[in-house]
Amino acid sequence: MTAPTDGKPRCPVDIDLIDADTFAEGLPLEQFATMREQAPVFWHEQKGSWGDGFWVVTRHKDVQEVSRLPEVFSSYERGALLHTGPAEDEEQSLQMTRMLMLNMDPPQHSDYRNIVQRAFTPRTIRNLEGRLQEFADEIVDRALAKGEGDFVKDVAAELPLLAICELIGIPAEDRTKIFDLSNRLIGFDDPEFRTSPDDAQVASMEMYMYADGIAAARRECPAEDIATKLLQADVEGGALTQEQFDVFFLLLSVAGNETTRNAISHGMQAFFDHPDQWELFKKERPLDAAVEEIIRWATPVMQFQRTALSDYVLDGQQISKGDRVAIYYSAANRDETAIDEPDTFDITRKENEHVAFGGGGPHFCLGANLARAEVRIMFDTIASRMPDIAPTGPPRMLRSMFINGIKEIPVRYTPGGKQ
Ligand code: HEM
Repeated sequence: MTAPTDGKPRCPVDIDLIDADTFAEGLPLEQFATMREQAPVFWHEQKGSWGDGFWVVTRHKDVQEVSRLPEVFSSYERGALLHTGPAEDEEQSLQMTRMLMLNMDPPQHSDYRNIVQRAFTPRTIRNLEGRLQEFADEIVDRALAKGEGDFVKDVAAELPLLAICELIGIPAEDRTKIFDLSNRLIGFDDPEFRTSPDDAQVASMEMYMYADGIAAARRECPAEDIATKLLQADVEGGALTQEQFDVFFLLLSVAGNETTRNAISHGMQAFFDHPDQWELFKKERPLDAAVEEIIRWATPVMQFQRTALSDYVLDGQQISKGDRVAIYYSAANRDETAIDEPDTFDITRKENEHVAFGGGGPHFCLGANLARAEVRIMFDTIASRMPDIAPTGPPRMLRSMFINGIKEIPVRYTPGGKQ
């Protein structure tokens, strides 16, 4: 480890966690292991950013500690997204960013989360399962009719989209629009998805305009969906403004989409890489354990950030008020002090307290129950109806420092099992 003059430990390996190229070929798992072992809380320089850098947290227990202390580690102060640009740009977007509950602290956060919480309880999701199964069967029908194609687009992307469209109240025929917009919003580091430097901005504007249309339709004709709930909500003494409605809409459609798509894509790739596990899955269907393992293995969200509201000692390291802290779920999920043999993909794993949905605390993934149901139903259906699905080429990874994504998996769809 180098010894800088400010006394803050630096990364024990040469890596730039802000550079999307670092993740272009997959997660830097060996480097994460060295970080956890030698400098579990280290200072990452980022010139020109707020504070000129941020703390990197890689151990499982530390990720949990930060996540569960919102009174010390704020999501509101500098937002929850780790910024890649200069502090001034971040400053400009902060006001808008803070309208998302992802970037709020309690008690304000709880008021907003309560509006939609009931749409995601285990019971509500159980009631949705029949519909999810119908969707999964239709997805497999279409894939089989094609014979071969891109698993990400044909299969992984479809169920999360259909499910979230159904819940929010977005007509199914508009789902390709939501697919395209969320790619452009999240894949901003990947040239394939970005048509101009400002495209993420343009995509969010397009999403807001689309949301305005849905709001107008629901005002006229309320329905049993989240869009209607948002319009009827009463927070901080009144209804949501149009702008607040729009950003809520954007958060729900993006958060539920990319993440679950990548869990399903990584899960399929993991089965291709570990054929013994696929055989076991098909034969014994350890559904719940397999779902947790797929989600841990994928860890679609690599990290979120917090900002210290007071001085705090984390794992022996002094953090100062105002410092940003990035919690790396992707490193914590391979921490052998929390997960037994973490580099083994084991779909029968009994203890699996992964942090792919967050380390606990108020922001713990709102859609966790929905995501689990989607992953379970999708793989159960694939195993039953196209058990011989096989890759025809290597996967292509998303270039991003935030989302552990797969852009494409070329596959052959072969019917089999029960039709
Ligand atoms: C495998 C799929 C998914 C993964 C890995 C995932 C991961 C995460 C993570 C890491 C967080 C932040 C937790 C924290 O800060 O403590 C989060 C929050 C959130 N997720 Fe998910 N998510 C997934 C699926 C979904 C789905 C299907 C939805 C449906 C709408 C969703 C909606 C949200 C929302 C709205 C938040 C913000 C919650 C808050 O600020 O209170 N997620 N998710």
